[in-house]
Amino acid sequence: MKTIRLKTQSRTYEIKTGNKLLDSLGRFLKSPCFGQDAYIITNAALKRRYGARLGSALQSAGYSARFFLIPDSETSKSLNIASSVIKDLAAYDKNKRIFIVAFGGGVIGDVAGFIASIYKRGIPFIQIPTTLLAQVDSSIGGKTGVDLEAGKNLIGTFYQPALVLSDVQLLKSLDKRQLRSGLAEVIKYAAIMDAGLFRYLEKNIHRILESDLKAIEYVVGKCAGLKARIVQQDEKEQKGIRTILNFGHTIGHAIEAACCYKRYSHGEAIALGMLVSSDLSYKLGMLGKKAVQRIEKLIIKAGLPVKLNKVNPQSIIRAHYRDKKFIGRKNRFVLLSDIGRCKVRQNISLKAIRESLKKIL
Ligand code: GLY
Repeated sequence: MKTIRLKTQSRTYEIKTGNKLLDSLGRFLKSPCFGQDAYIITNAALKRRYGARLGSALQSAGYSARFFLIPDSETSKSLNIASSVIKDLAAYDKNKRIFIVAFGGGVIGDVAGFIASIYKRGIPFIQIPTTLLAQVDSSIGGKTGVDLEAGKNLIGTFYQPALVLSDVQLLKSLDKRQLRSGLAEVIKYAAIMDAGLFRYLEKNIHRILESDLKAIEYVVGKCAGLKARIVQQDEKEQKGIRTILNFGHTIGHAIEAACCYKRYSHGEAIALGMLVSSDLSYKLGMLGKKAVQRIEKLIIKAGLPVKLNKVNPQSIIRAHYRDKKFIGRKNRFVLLSDIGRCKVRQNISLKAIRESLKKIL
């Protein structure tokens, strides 16, 4: 097991990564800081598979456990779902000291964290991420939120969990598409921050796709450490440091939006976005051709898409204007200067973006 200590202005907490951690959950909870009564937000499939184990891990350590199920889709990130959870939570909350447990992927983590941040002006919550994407990225760093029709994550808070427990054994049952989607974020970390991790992936990515838990444990621990390092320096994305975690996301989010969040998973869209950003980096003279090829090759090896299927590039351009990363009228792109090194650039011309979009058409 690896323990990473993440120290931010608002809270210091531990990220535990390793294999077979779930049954020992009680050991990692530090009452009274967490409360006494666990309110677990999850979905029906996860409750069927792990509910009994999670419940008994909590109860045997002296905590009560109540489950609330939300649908397993992006539509759960809505004010309506958040409000139905909060009503149930408030009705249940009599003579209790409640803490929330987000048991699921990115959607559950985001909505559960959001609820924890606004209920009674904030109650403790812990993240037990069950997808690769959530273990390497979304469960760490306190971004919470729900979507509006006008855009993703338009309502949200920065609210740090009290603990992140990433048990890679929970990933054993993930389907290949979910694994690949998480791998896109792993490739992102390697490309922007860690050339050594990039080389490791070039050699070992097949092991991750075969659900080799040793390899998965290694990358989850690595990425959690990298993310903690960034969040520690720029918790609320105000200094332009945390911004680098958006490599591939400006175009990736635009692809998701242009396809109404249906055709491509988040990771698949980010893979396409990373290809466009690498090509932009090359065309702007920042990155060598060989590095661009290595990134493309790794994305192919991960089984992620490298070409868009029947999407009008103009709809991507339109969607990219609504990106939260826009400052006034200026877009912002994270570009690479080498494998493992990146820079944030503003105001990239539409002509250059259109040219680089051709890479994935
Ligand atoms: N997923 C990017 C961030 O947490 O900042």
